Parts: sequence; structure tokens; C-alpha cells
Amino acid sequence: MKALQLAFCLLGSVVITASCANLPRVRRHAPDWDLAKPMNGLSFERAKAIKEPSNDRTTMHFSHLKGIKAKPGQQHSGVSALSRLRSSSTPGSIKQSFQNISALTAASTQYAIQCGWDGVPVWLLFDTGSSDTWATKTGFKCSDGTGDSHNEAACGFSTPYIDGFGHGQIDELHFYLKYGSGEHISGPMGYSDVSCGGVSVSKQQVGLANNTYWHGNNVTVGILGLAYPAITSAYYGDVGQEAPWNAMSYTPFLTSAISQGTIDPVFSVALIKNSTDGVIAWGGLPPMDWQFRGYAKTDLIIANLVGQPETAWKYSFYTIVPDGIRWDQTTDTTKYPYIVDTGTTMLYLPPPLAESIANSFQPRAVYLYQWGTYFAPCDAIPPHFAIIISGVEFWINPADLIYHDLVDPLTGYCAIGIASGGPGPYILGDVFLQNVLAVFDVGAAEMRFYSRK
Ligand SMILES: *[C@@H]1O[C@H](CO)[C@@H](O)[C@H](O)[C@H]1NC(C)=O
Ligand SMILES: *[C@@H]1O[C@H](CO)[C@@H](O)[C@H](O)[C@H]1NC(C)=O
Ligand SMILES: *[C@@H]1O[C@H](CO)[C@@H](O)[C@H](O)[C@H]1NC(C)=O
Ligand SMILES: *[C@@H]1O[C@H](CO)[C@@H](O)[C@H](O)[C@H]1NC(C)=O
Repeated sequence: MKALQLAFCLLGSVVITASCANLPRVRRHAPDWDLAKPMNGLSFERAKAIKEPSNDRTTMHFSHLKGIKAKPGQQHSGVSALSRLRSSSTPGSIKQSFQNISALTAASTQYAIQCGWDGVPVWLLFDTGSSDTWATKTGFKCSDGTGDSHNEAACGFSTPYIDGFGHGQIDELHFYLKYGSGEHISGPMGYSDVSCGGVSVSKQQVGLANNTYWHGNNVTVGILGLAYPAITSAYYGDVGQEAPWNAMSYTPFLTSAISQGTIDPVFSVALIKNSTDGVIAWGGLPPMDWQFRGYAKTDLIIANLVGQPETAWKYSFYTIVPDGIRWDQTTDTTKYPYIVDTGTTMLYLPPPLAESIANSFQPRAVYLYQWGTYFAPCDAIPPHFAIIISGVEFWINPADLIYHDLVDPLTGYCAIGIASGGPGPYILGDVFLQNVLAVFDVGAAEMRFYSRK
């Protein structure tokens, strides 16, 4: 009987019987992606290991991350670079071109981290997509897109502002960051003591913004850049004269912390369920009594933005290649790179996968073009869904796959946690990160994941 059913299913009948649906299906819908091949504005390289993997052990160095729901015009850091790539993508499905900007904002969360800046407590944006660390300088000029000055509050930074560099300014050097939105930040560079979660770096090279066009969140006063220890850019010469020949690279915060011997070359992130908050631990795992169900490690790949204007902030993203995706009885083993990003709420998958998974909600989720993403009845039953990394299935809690606070007013449907990433980049966002403890072992060039209950 079993054999007969199998034969029936293999014939590809339109009628899927209950017994067919229970048979595991493995499929590939595209050739495996090639590391050497750029994808929609990103190039990839295997990160180089400089030491053996660290033993994962609890560290007392950790910081709480405070989630801030991003509002329109408020996405800075690597988050905005990723959002821009997604929204400017040539659609893999035509639907993508109708993407509403408001959908993007609902789909991102910024995280703030409290650090000491020459001993002064400040909230900084936590950003794994950029490497520069900067804060706002006392007496800064807040201007708008046309260059006209406004009062400081209009730029939306929190306080306290920073008066100067604890270890002196670097003459002739400044930093300049420009965003796709037209926003920009510039100012002098110097050395300050920066400490976050008990990890202190003395004489870290940092920027102080003295001239800004910025739509801030009123929570943070700058950015802590934690991108893969890559080349950062500072510039010699006058503001406005930035070019490759006057760029100067320097050691960013995380690399300094590692080279000053403060921590092992590892940090780990755990986002807290049912909350926008999280924890980052420096040099190990956060001291929390989570029960781990599974563990996997995989190579760390670095994705870099290509074709950026020379004066743009340099972005790079922590990236992995999972073995595949599993939902209900289906496993898709096509290999794609996925950026691991705390700033993105949803999971962005290749369009055919997103479509199949949306269809496997009961009742099925539908694509609402005005939002640019999928919605399902709020009481729909999500599929059993896992990301497979190095042979281990990391299951996503079904409750995390439906957003009860993101409701389409016309249909009354709720947004689901799976979205189409068009031609890329594909992203493992908070939906995934809330179900794991993610270890970024930059020293050994690998990522490790522990699945959480
Ligand atoms: C999408 O954008 C349109 C036009 O800007 C706006 O009227 C509509 O409310 C937006 N849709 C949603 C779901 O926010
Ligand atoms: C900001 O700092 C730069 C670099 O040190 C300096 O050239 C510029 O005059 C300053 N601008 C303001 C408005 O203070
Ligand atoms: C920040 O505060 C300013 C002035 O108080 C206000 O106009 C602005 O809307 C606030 N921005 C956000 C994102 O809350
Ligand atoms: C999370 O929130 C949902 C609804 O808001 C609730 O049903 C669920 O019990 C919460 N889970 C936890 C672990 O608090």
C-alpha cells in the first residue's frame, strides 16, 4: 500500500492526499550559488581565521540591548544599507516593485547599547553592518537637506553630547558618512576611552559629529560599529574633499578590544522573545540559564556592499550559507548566502521559497502588494519551519511567525515572519535570532548557533 501511495505521489497528482503530504520531499529549485559571484550589490569572501575557535563559556562581560522600533527616515547604520538594497532590487517577482516604504519600517528594529565614553554614559546604536564608532559633539550644527541650520533637537540625538576627545584630537583627520537618504554626518576624529558591557578600550579612534543632517530616534547619540574587522575610512584634508587617495584606515572598537587582550575574539547575541530587547556578550556567552537543544557551527563569510560612492560609509555583513530550509515535510537544499542581522525583523528568503512557505500556512498567507509582504488570518496555523545549518535543524517557534501587532486594516490579516528577498540579499533576521544564541567567532572565522527553548 505504501509503495502504491508513493507511486501515486511521484506521478505529481494535483490532488495531494493526506498520505502524500506526509512523505518527506527534498527539492532544489535552483543551482547552488557560487561564492565568487556577486549578488545584487553584494560581493562575498570567506573570512580568514587568525586563531583556533574559542571555547564557548560564560562571560561576565555583557550588555543589554534596548530595541527601538524604527520609524520612517530613521534607519541608519547597516540596517538602512540593507533596506536600501532590498527596496532598490530588480524584483525577482513583479510584486516586489510595489513594495511600500512603510512595510520596510515595520520590518526593522534598531538596538541601542549603553557604553561609557571617556566615562560618560551614552546610548549608541548597535550596528553589526558598519565599523565606525562616533557620538555627537557638544555645539554641533544641525542642518537640513538644503544646508540651512536648525536647532539641535531637530536632528533627534539623545544627550549627553560629548565635549571633546579624552586623549586628544587627530589633526588633519576627519570622518564623513553619507547615506542614500541624503543624510550625512561629519566631524573631527580623535582618541577616547570607550567601554561597553565591561569591555574597555583605551584610546580608541572615534569620531565626534559636529555637522549633521540626521533624522534621529531621540534615544541614541551615535553608533557603535561592530562589522567584521574591516577597513574603516577616515579622511585627511578638508571636509568635502573625501577621495580614495586621502582615506586612512584605522582599527575599530571590536578589533581594538581583541588586540588589547581584553576579550577573546568572539561576541554573542541573544534576542529576547516577546520583547524587542536582547543581550550581547563580549568574549563568550551571556550568563543566562537557557536550555540548548541543538548546536551547529559554520564558516563565516563576509558580504561587502559593492559599487558604493567613494565617500559612503563602508558596510560589511556577517553572512553564512545554511544547508537548506525545512517546512513541514519539505526540505529545500539549494545553497544561498544569508546575512545574519539583528536590525531586520523578518526572514528574507528567495522568492519561490517564501511563496511555498506562505502557501503552507493554514489557511494560506497571501501577498498584499501595498505592504510588499505576506499576510495571513491572525489565527492561521504556521508550518513547522526550520533553518538547517551544518546538518542541524533550528526550529522557529510557530508563534514567532505571525505578527499580531502588524495588522492590515482592510483584511484584518496579520503579517507573517517570512518575506520574499527578491534577488537578494537574503536575511536571517530577528525571527531566527529570537530562537538561537548566535556566536560571532571573528577570530576563527566561524559562526556558532545554539538553539534555545
Ligand atoms: C502604502 O503607501 C500608500 C501611499 O503612500 C499609503 O496610502 C498606504 O497607506 C500604504 N500602505 C500601508 C499598508 O501602510
Ligand atoms: C567640524 O570639524 C571639522 C574637522 O575638525 C572642522 O574642519 C570644522 O570646521 C568643524 N565644523 C564645525 C561646524 O564646527
Ligand atoms: C524627537 O523629538 C523631537 C522634538 O522633541 C520630535 O519632534 C520628534 O518627533 C522626535 N522623534 C522621534 C523619532 O521620536
Ligand atoms: C508572547 O506573547 C504572546 C501574545 O502576545 C503570548 O500568547 C505568549 O504567551 C507570550 N510568550 C511568552 C513566552 O511570554
